[in-house]
Order: sequence, then structure tokens, then C-alpha cells
Amino acid sequence: MEVIVVPTNVEVGRLGAAEVAAVAAAKPSAVIGLATGSSPESLYAGLRERVTAGEISFAEARGFALDEYVGLPLEHPQSYAGVIRRTVVEPLGFHPSRMRVPDGLAPDLDAAATAYEAAIAEAGGIDIQILGIGTNGHIGFNEPTSSFASRTRVKTLAPRTREDNSRFFDSVEEVPIHCLTQGLGTILEAKRLLLVAQGPGKAAAIAAAVEGPLSSFVPASALQLHEHATVIVDEAAAAELRLTDYYRFSRDHRLVRAAAAA
Ligand code: GLP
Repeated sequence: MEVIVVPTNVEVGRLGAAEVAAVAAAKPSAVIGLATGSSPESLYAGLRERVTAGEISFAEARGFALDEYVGLPLEHPQSYAGVIRRTVVEPLGFHPSRMRVPDGLAPDLDAAATAYEAAIAEAGGIDIQILGIGTNGHIGFNEPTSSFASRTRVKTLAPRTREDNSRFFDSVEEVPIHCLTQGLGTILEAKRLLLVAQGPGKAAAIAAAVEGPLSSFVPASALQLHEHATVIVDEAAAAELRLTDYYRFSRDHRLVRAAAAA
């Protein structure tokens, strides 16, 4: 795992955008996995700058969202289908027909989950999966004790997640109880993982995920199993890491190999 500590959220977004832009530039038809929530906002802003400058294009790319609430009408501002449309599809120029979000309104949610897995496979798999992290260590909506082998499925949101996400709703009671989420097994099959986190509220979750034991109790610790995972955090989110000096040293002495430089 590569852990990169930068001063502020602005740099998290800039560096995160550079990682995704490199994938998109090398493969215009790249399949991008997308997170919602506050964490990737600065990264999406960084990508938008590059799209506007004509450096990259997502016109031929495909996208798959990580998760969706069950039962929220599409016109609800917190429906992730709407969030993805407003924060990714429109500003970054994805073609709407090439963006998928799990169908949280499907009459048969299990069938919708199976169809979602099939669609990812049919697209050739996800080239880079953008992730945030919940304060309880979840990724996507894979709450603590989610199996590392799990696939896209219905989950029950943890009370802490509903509390955290209530800032986007009028009250905690309005936060849906269920969701559809890519599983940890699904996420681990992406060719690259890119997790971004900022702020002191994420410090404990980041330390547990990056330096703690591999445990389904901390779903983000699954990143330790992936051969190409990058974690970009600001100083506040890095506050509880123990090996920060090493992460900085490693970054300062990054060895640029011929293949990467070409
Ligand atoms: C949300 C989403 C996740 C997100 C995480 C952190 O509820 N389901 O995809 O990464 O929890 O959210 P935020 O980035 O708003 O802190």
C-alpha cells in the first residue's frame, strides 16, 4: 500500500485527481469506480480542472458508483444516482448511458445486485476505484463485519453511518436504513484502489485501516490485501498514523522506473 500524507484537502484533491487522470489519459475507455460523500469532492474538482483545460476526457469512459440507498426516490437530493449525476456525470462529461448506479428502487434488490456485478464484469472490470472511508472504517457501505469476500448486495446501515450521513438530511430518521453496495470482494477486484480522506474525524479509521490488523471489523483494512492501493490523506486524517515519517521518506525518495517514466 502506498500512503501519501499531504498538508491539506486541496492537495488531497490535486494528487488524487492526478492519479485518476493518469488512468484516463492512458485508456480513454477506462472504467472508473466512483464514491459519493464529501471525501472525493476535492478530487472531482481537480478532475474538472483537467477536463476544462482539455487535458483529459471522460467522454468514452464508463463509471460505476459504489453504492446507493434503498428506497430513496430518484428526485431526492441524496439519491446517489442524482449525486453522481450532479458531481460526476455533468461536470466531468461522462455519457449518462455509460454511468451505472445500483438500483435501490428495484422491486427485486437481490436481482439488481446480481445485475450490477454482471455489468461490472461485462465492462471488463474497474480500472480504478475511488474510495472514501466512513468514521467506522467502512468503504462503500460495507459496514463493520462485512466479509472480505462479499459481493454487491443489500446491507443494513450502521447507526453511526446513519448519524454521520444525517447532515445531508433533515433528520437521522430520514436517512434510509438499507442500501445496495459493492462488496469488499467486488472492490478488491478493481485493478487499482485510491482512497482519499481528510479531517480529524477520519484519523482513527485511517490508522486502523492502514496500520491495524486485517479485520472485517475495519472493512477498509481490506486494502491491505490489494496489490495496488494508494491512500492519500491530509495531515489531520494522518494524525493517528505511526509510520508517517516513513511515508514521507518513501515519497521523497520515490524511485521512478523506466516503464513509469515512459
Ligand atoms: C458514505 C458513502 C461512502 C463514503 C463514506 C464517507 O456514506 N457510502 O462511499 O466514502 O460514507 O463519507 P464522507 O466522504 O461523506 O465522509
